[in-house]
Amino acid sequence: MKSGSIGTDTDHAIEVLRNGGVIGFPTETVYGLAADASNSVAVNRIFDIKGRPRNHPLIVHLPSLVEARLWSADWSTSAEILAALFWPGPLTVIVTKALTVNHEVTGGLDTIALRVPNHAVALEVLRGLECGVAAPSANKFGKVSPTTAEHVLNDLGSEVDYILDGGPCSIGLESTIVDCSANIIQILRPGGISRELVSQVVPVAEQMTGPSRAPGMLDSHYAPTCRLTVVADVNEAQALLATQAVTQQVRIIDGSSDPTLFATQMYSQLRQCDDDGIDQAIVVLPSPNGIGTAIRDRLLKAAHGAQTQSH
Ligand code: TXA
Ligand code: MG
Repeated sequence: MKSGSIGTDTDHAIEVLRNGGVIGFPTETVYGLAADASNSVAVNRIFDIKGRPRNHPLIVHLPSLVEARLWSADWSTSAEILAALFWPGPLTVIVTKALTVNHEVTGGLDTIALRVPNHAVALEVLRGLECGVAAPSANKFGKVSPTTAEHVLNDLGSEVDYILDGGPCSIGLESTIVDCSANIIQILRPGGISRELVSQVVPVAEQMTGPSRAPGMLDSHYAPTCRLTVVADVNEAQALLATQAVTQQVRIIDGSSDPTLFATQMYSQLRQCDDDGIDQAIVVLPSPNGIGTAIRDRLLKAAHGAQTQSH
């Protein structure tokens, strides 16, 4: 198989996946690094390409709720309510896995993450393939997620068998992950479906208690190479800028005025900072509600990662 080709040929994408290949796969949240979830060799290649520890489980993407139910041995009422309301969409549910699911996909856990993406090209592939597609975000482990096919090409172009270009992602941030596998329902990762929306339809634990139930949800993640500092408002950003040495290339990014629009551009803007040789990005956080909660989560983790790297 020729590596690194990019295009809009869904039939070719299906063919590559059927033959055990790994592709860049568009969704409405971020691009995925996709393989047939029932093919252990192909799934292992995802971990190799990403440089991701094998005990960090993957999300399986399916064409519909009907297909998703087949992947669970104990499909819960809360998963049914959430899926019926928000699929296709930026929501992942964690449920007890079916016995037949490969342990590679779930990182050895007895639960599984499932999602029906709201993206016409993704759904065309999923319907045509007639099997689940395991896909983490198509970036190297810990790095900035991709929201265009070009991002995938730049990061992983020589390592994947095909990149299916479905245009820029309309949401721009990873899905909301809701753990429906235990008595207490938890949001493990904020995302495109807000806590406010989820808690209107199922009882969600106020705050996460104990260690995260999502292996791989690290404090440092989503990080650009440049130093990233988060601030509460534009005045604070200006004040901080004024204290920087003139030799430093510093850029202020305002995530507070239109968070929904900013979400679609955030990863591109962080990547652009690195492409432009910026030393430090100062990002103004949005308020902690709606999509703003997810933006803050990613930026705080990215800031942590950037600081860790610079030491
Ligand atoms: O929007 C998205 O969710 C994107 C697109 C491609 O669908 N995918 C994505 O995958 O963000 P990834 O692998 O980067 O993040 C998946 C997260 C991981 O942090 C993992 O810990 C969690 O989902 N996860 C997966 N299976 C799990 C399980 N059984 N229990 C708890 N957490 C799980
Ligand atoms: Mg990721």
